[in-house]
Formats: sequence, structure tokens, C-alpha cells
Amino acid sequence: MESKTIRFVRQGELVSLGNVPPERTLLEVLREDLGCTGTKEGCGEGDCGACTVVIAERDDGALKYRAINSCIRLAHSVDGMALWTVEDLAAADGTLHPAQEAMVRCHGSQCGFCTPGFVMSLFGMYQNHVCRGEAVTRELAQEELSGNLCRCTGYRPILDAAQQMARLPAARVDERAILAQLDQAAALRAQAPASGAYLAPTSLAELLALRAANPRAQIVAGCTDVGLWVTKLHMQFAQVLDVTGVRELRRVETYDRHLAIGAAVTLTDAFEALVAQWPQLKTFANRFAGLPVRNSGTLGGNVANGSPIGDSMPLLIALGAHVVLLSARGHRDMPLEQFYTGYRKNVLAQDEVVGWIKVPTTPHPGPLPQAGEGAFVRAYKISKRYDDDISAICLVISMRIENGVVQNVGIGAGGVAATPARAVQAEAALRGRAWTLEAAQQAAAALRSEFQPISDMRASAAYRAEVLGNLLQRFWLESQGVQQINLENFRVEEASLP
Ligand code: FES
Ligand code: FES
Repeated sequence: MESKTIRFVRQGELVSLGNVPPERTLLEVLREDLGCTGTKEGCGEGDCGACTVVIAERDDGALKYRAINSCIRLAHSVDGMALWTVEDLAAADGTLHPAQEAMVRCHGSQCGFCTPGFVMSLFGMYQNHVCRGEAVTRELAQEELSGNLCRCTGYRPILDAAQQMARLPAARVDERAILAQLDQAAALRAQAPASGAYLAPTSLAELLALRAANPRAQIVAGCTDVGLWVTKLHMQFAQVLDVTGVRELRRVETYDRHLAIGAAVTLTDAFEALVAQWPQLKTFANRFAGLPVRNSGTLGGNVANGSPIGDSMPLLIALGAHVVLLSARGHRDMPLEQFYTGYRKNVLAQDEVVGWIKVPTTPHPGPLPQAGEGAFVRAYKISKRYDDDISAICLVISMRIENGVVQNVGIGAGGVAATPARAVQAEAALRGRAWTLEAAQQAAAALRSEFQPISDMRASAAYRAEVLGNLLQRFWLESQGVQQINLENFRVEEASLP
């Protein structure tokens, strides 16, 4: 089966590539087909950031920039976008871009593997913050470099470089020219309807018709997990169905009583919407993988993938989210926990896709109860590393207390069963009871015995069970106003810049 031509804007040119296999990664195309070896391969699984590039799409008449991992991104997915690699930043006369110059001045340049990736994350930061006149704080720099690892030395000079960029002579992208080229690419693309080995529909009707006609096509969204099936398991796909271009699924819609997050909304944008409702989730959201993964991966993809160690499902289950499944036959709506039937198995029919995640916004839980009353939500992630790591345990608790009694409680858990799970027994131990230390301890005991987690490289079964209960006890302490026991209270110190 033939693939459509891929077109993207790079170095001021519209690049066209024909007959690219559907599972070929962007990194393979850059390094092997285009000979651009500045972008490096480290892990090949979205963990290290050596392969970071920046993409941009039209968004309300401007460009929206995102740093992504090219190693697990399918090449076809950048069709119709602008792309920058580390080879594209310096001016024609050799003048370094501020992202590069700052690295030189701050002695941030390290080995040839990690440095190109750090520079590209800095470039993304430059476009998204410095060019908009926003300050790059130490905290922001750390958050936005969360997907770039150095295995051997220090991050301080790189964080310094992030803050140094704004002090250097500005470098501007010619957005108007790029937007014109993107329009040209879109016009060429519109002449060829979605067909062939890489299907990329742009409307919901088109998506559902293609799904019904091609039930064996591999559905992808941000590809942050399917990409590993390609790079680590060497899977090949006869046909891929990419949902990320479907305009109806790219929106977050706010209703009176819920948010509807489309399946093609990136994790970055989905978490932004959730954090706008529940600011206390910011730390948890920032600890979901690293920024380049969140910039590609989608909330719908995370849900459909159904990994038992994915972090978004425990949160969504605790908040009482529903998933809406769509097909040409109609739609159905169910509580998220009912979507899963076993390890990475779900109720999706062959002609269905995940459409929206509906997250209730009323009653509106706050960060902590006032004098032990009200609604509040807390999310806990236990992993070996703070940034860019997979949870050993994830626990999210949402609770409403009135007159000292637990009126409602939602507890979502990850890393403890074959699927993301609701802690039904622990919830039952609390619902309708006075919110006391004794009730919290009994619920913690119920939580410890409710699941039979496995032992693996992240944690032993015994550790997981113990920590689950401990987290519920922490929740009790925080509900009583003890606040020195969570990560929100740790602050990255500001540096004095050279
Ligand atoms: Fe490590 Fe891509 S090579 S994230
Ligand atoms: Fe590049 Fe450590 S990985 S210097």
C-alpha cells in the first residue's frame, strides 16, 4: 500500500518526501533519509531527549511550538507542520541562536548526545516564553527541561543558559513566511483524500468512516507508546490511522458541569485545562513523563492505551470521569473504570474510537478543606526519579466532607493491578463516615488489602501495598492542614546569573 507524500516546512523550504513507510520514525527520516545527523538517538523510547526537535502548527493565525521526541514520533505525523532540528537554528552567517549562544556562555555544552536535545528544548522555551516577553524562571526552566537527561554531569549551567537567553540579541522566526508555506502544504494535502498506508483524517465523520472501513488499521495519536512498539519491538504496520488531525477531537470544551477533552488533545493542553480547574494538580501534571512526551502524547491515547502504570487514569477515575466512545453507529458513554476489561484490554468495538473524556467539574474540589470541611483532591506519584519517570504507585483521592462526614469520595490507583483501578473497598470504608483519624486508618488498611500488586523493577508487591495505605494517611494529615509533607513545598532556588 502506498503512502501519501509528507510535506513539512524546514529551513524556509517546503520539504516533500514520498513513499515513507507508515511506521518510519521522524528520527529515522531525519538521520537516514535526509542525512541530518545533528539530532541524536539515545534511548529510542522518549526518555532521554537526545532526539528532541521542535514542531509548529498553525493556531489562531500564529504558530504554536512544541518540543517533541523524534525517536518515537511517526514521520507522517509532521505532515503539514514546520520543523526545526539543531541544525536549523544558527543564522546563515553562522551567528548562533540565543539558545546556542547561552549554552556557550554558561558553559552548558556537554557531550554530543545530550547537548542537541537540550538546545532544542531551549529553543522551544525561547519561542514559547522569551518571544512572548515572559520571564524564564528557574522553576519554568526545570519544568521545560524535564525531558532532557544527562547521564554524567550537571544541569546547573543549562538552567543558567535557559535564563540567560532573554539577555542576548533576539532571534525571530519569520512566522508570516512559514504560515504561507503551511497554507501551501495544506492546499496540496487537500487535493489528496485520506487513503493509503497512513490515514490522517481531518474531520470526525471522515475518521469514523475510515475506522469502519479499516478495522485492522493501527490507531495512533501522539504515538508515545506505539512508538516504542516500533523502536523496541520492531513492529510494522500495514496501515496506520492517525486521529490527531481530527478537528472536533482537538478541543477542550467547558460546560456547566464538566470538561470535555477531545481524544486528540495533547497531554500538555489537557493538563493545562485540568490544572486551571484544580491548581493543586500542577506538580502532578508536571511529573507526567517529560515535556516532549506530554507535547506529543494525548489524554485520549493514554486512556485508550490503558497502561496500568499510566498516571492520568487514576486521576480521571478519582474525579469521576467518563469516556465517550464513537463509531458511525453512534456513541456510548461509561465511567472510565468500566472501559477496561484486562491488561491493556478494553471494550472498544472494531469500528469504535475514543472520542472524548468527560471530567465533572462540580462540586469543585479545592486544594485543602477549610477547617476540615469542603471538597478537596490530592494526587500522589511515587517513582524513583522526580522528573520523567514511570510511577511505581499512583494514588489520587477526591473527597467531599460536609458536617464532618464523608459525603463522597473517589479513589483512583495505578501500579497496583492489571488495569487502572478504582479502590472500591477503600471508598466504601469512608463513604458516609465521620472523617476521623480512625476512619482514615481503616480506609488505609482496606486500601492495602484491596489490590494484589506485582513485584517488578519499580517496586515490590509488599512495598506497593504498604505505600498505598501510607498515602491515604498522608491525605488525612494534609486534610488536617499539615502541609510540609508534599512536593509542592519544595522550591528550586533561583540562581544568580553570570
Ligand atoms: Fe531518547 Fe528519543 S532518543 S528520547
Ligand atoms: Fe551528555 Fe552527560 S549525557 S554530557
